Amino acid sequence: MARRCTTPFEREARLCRVCRLDPEVEGLRRCSRLVAESPPMQEVLVRAARFARSDASVVILGESGAGKEVLARALHANGPRRAGPFVPVNVAALPAELLESELFGHVKGAFTGAVADKRGLMEAAGGGTLFLDEVAEMPAPLQAKLLRALQDGEVRRVGDVRAFTADARIICATHRDLARRVEQGLFREDLYYRLKVFTLRVPPLRERREDVLPLAAQLLDAAGRPEVRFTRAAARALEAHRWPGNVRELQNAITHALALADGDEVDVEHLPEEVTGRAPARPAADGELCTLAEAERAHILRALEACGGRQAEAARLLGIGRTTLWRKLRDHGVG
Ligand SMILES: Nc1ncnc2c1ncn2[C@@H]1O[C@H](COP(=O)(O)OP(=O)(O)OP(=O)(O)O)[C@@H](O)[C@H]1O
Ligand SMILES: [Mg+2]
Repeated sequence: MARRCTTPFEREARLCRVCRLDPEVEGLRRCSRLVAESPPMQEVLVRAARFARSDASVVILGESGAGKEVLARALHANGPRRAGPFVPVNVAALPAELLESELFGHVKGAFTGAVADKRGLMEAAGGGTLFLDEVAEMPAPLQAKLLRALQDGEVRRVGDVRAFTADARIICATHRDLARRVEQGLFREDLYYRLKVFTLRVPPLRERREDVLPLAAQLLDAAGRPEVRFTRAAARALEAHRWPGNVRELQNAITHALALADGDEVDVEHLPEEVTGRAPARPAADGELCTLAEAERAHILRALEACGGRQAEAARLLGIGRTTLWRKLRDHGVG
């Protein structure tokens, strides 16, 4: 393992002369096209470059759309397991029973519908990395099973008596305050400590405004429109916005702008109204009370906006079920 740079002088000596970044940090950035111009994001990368070399679990915290998954991929791609698979699984997307068989696999006949043996994602991630997205939502019985797997290094497929060796590095992410979930008794404390050997916090975009324009440039590039430029006013609007939906919201704003702009120049009028501050983001100002239904409709729309239009995410943010959100959207004549 490379020696840690302890003094500013040593650190300075290791920095690449071109990009002024630690070569390992630069590696982390290049492989995944991770934009990190701002000091807070560079700090994250410096820590991440060290964690990448290890096999221990990492918990990545950060708001929705902030870039937790890109960072997880960069950790994998810069670690000793880079030749192995990176297997993402969204823990919140599946009901408990399905998630168990998805993660750990099952044998034929273990339950109705189990017509053949099936490998779980944990097994599939052997030699590589298992990325447990939205880990805070993991149901309690599965938390227990995951803890056993991590402690013993073995897992059993559902319905199987044999065990196989679990050799996946675990990287988790959540937009929730995981320590608080532990306090509330919603997440096992022993699993929490087993997982959070290393912690990375991806700062929200509003705390690293220096990243906004470089990210926008990369998103234009990814959209096949690298020649597009922002007018000064548009660039100012992008930098000034609070970006509640973070990079994903920025991605949507760029898509919006590209659709509206005729030539190679994006101006303020091409940006979404929420970004330029011309939309009524709040139901009504003090003094002009709106109805409860109007307030609910506006609040739901803001939540959807913050989640980049993803209903499952918005439902979680609002603390209601997906079906309830769907019903409310229909009742409010949205979508
Ligand atoms: N620093 C970054 N550099 C380049 N692209 C980024 C960066 N951060 C995020 N993105 C892009 O923004 C989008 C959202 O990022 P990502 O999926 O990693 O967020 P997330 O934190 O996992 O969100 P969620 O909590 O909603 O799952 C992706 O398309 C990703 O490629
Ligand atoms: Mg994600």
